[in-house]
Amino acid sequence: MTNSSGIGLFDSGIGGLSIARKVRELLPSENILYVADSLHAPYGDKADSFLLARMRAITEFLVSHGAKVVVVACNTATTSAIAELRSQYSVPIIGVEPGIKPAALRSRTGVIGVLATPRTLETNAFFSLAERYASGVKIEVQSCPDLAAQIESLSFDSDRTIALLKRYISPLLEKRVDTIILGCTHYNHVSHLIAELAGPDVAIVNTATAVANEVVRRLTTEGLLAVNNGVGSDDFWTNGALDVYRNQIEQLWGQGKNIFQL
Ligand code: DGL
Repeated sequence: MTNSSGIGLFDSGIGGLSIARKVRELLPSENILYVADSLHAPYGDKADSFLLARMRAITEFLVSHGAKVVVVACNTATTSAIAELRSQYSVPIIGVEPGIKPAALRSRTGVIGVLATPRTLETNAFFSLAERYASGVKIEVQSCPDLAAQIESLSFDSDRTIALLKRYISPLLEKRVDTIILGCTHYNHVSHLIAELAGPDVAIVNTATAVANEVVRRLTTEGLLAVNNGVGSDDFWTNGALDVYRNQIEQLWGQGKNIFQL
C-alpha cells in the first residue's frame, strides 16, 4: 500500500457524494475515487445477496484502482451487508449508518424520527442500532420509496420533490418527533428543504461529518494518510448514462473532474 493511493467511496448514485464532500474538506491532499452504481439504483428495494454482490464488485474495482480505504457511502448497503463485506477483504471498510445514537442523545421529548429506504428499515443492523442506542427513546420510522430516485434527478426544488418530502415528513411531525435522522445519504442533498418543512423545533441529524472523521481516524491509525501537501485528484465512475452523471458531478462537485464510464 502506498500513501499516494486514494480513498474509495461508492453508493447507488449521488447520495455518497455528500460523504465524499466532507472527506474532501477534511483531507484536501487525498485522492478521491468515487463510484456511482447507477445501473443498479435504487439500492433501497434490493435484497441483501444482490447488494453484497454489488459491494464486492465495486470494492474490488476500487482496490484495483488504488483505494487504501473503502467507504460504503450508503446506509442501505451498510446495514444490509457490511459485516460480510468486511469479512472478505483486508482493506479497511467504513460504513454509514442512520445516526440513532446522536439523535437519541440530543432528543428532549424522547421521540425521534428516521427517514430511510425500505430496505434499511428492515435490516437486523437497523434493529440492533435501535436496541443499542435508543433505550428510553421512541423511534418513529418512515420509509421513503422513490425519494432517492427523485433526488438523482437534481430537481431539488421541484413540486414533485417537495410533495414527496411533505408526504414522508408529515407523519413524523404528527407523531411529534423533535429530531429527524437522514438515514439515506441521498437525503443529505435536500437537508435544507427537510429542515424548512420540519420547522425550527425539529433538529436534523446526518452522519456525514462523523463518517469523514472516522476516515481520518482510520487512515491516521493505520499510517495511511497522504504524505504530500498537494491537492488530491477526484475521479468519478458510473455504469449509468455518462452525460447524466457528468451533469450531476458538475452540479454537486464542480467542473473539470475526471469522469469515466465503468
Ligand atoms: N444512498 C443510499 C442510502 O444511503 C441508497 C439509496 C437508494 O439507492 O435507494 O441508503
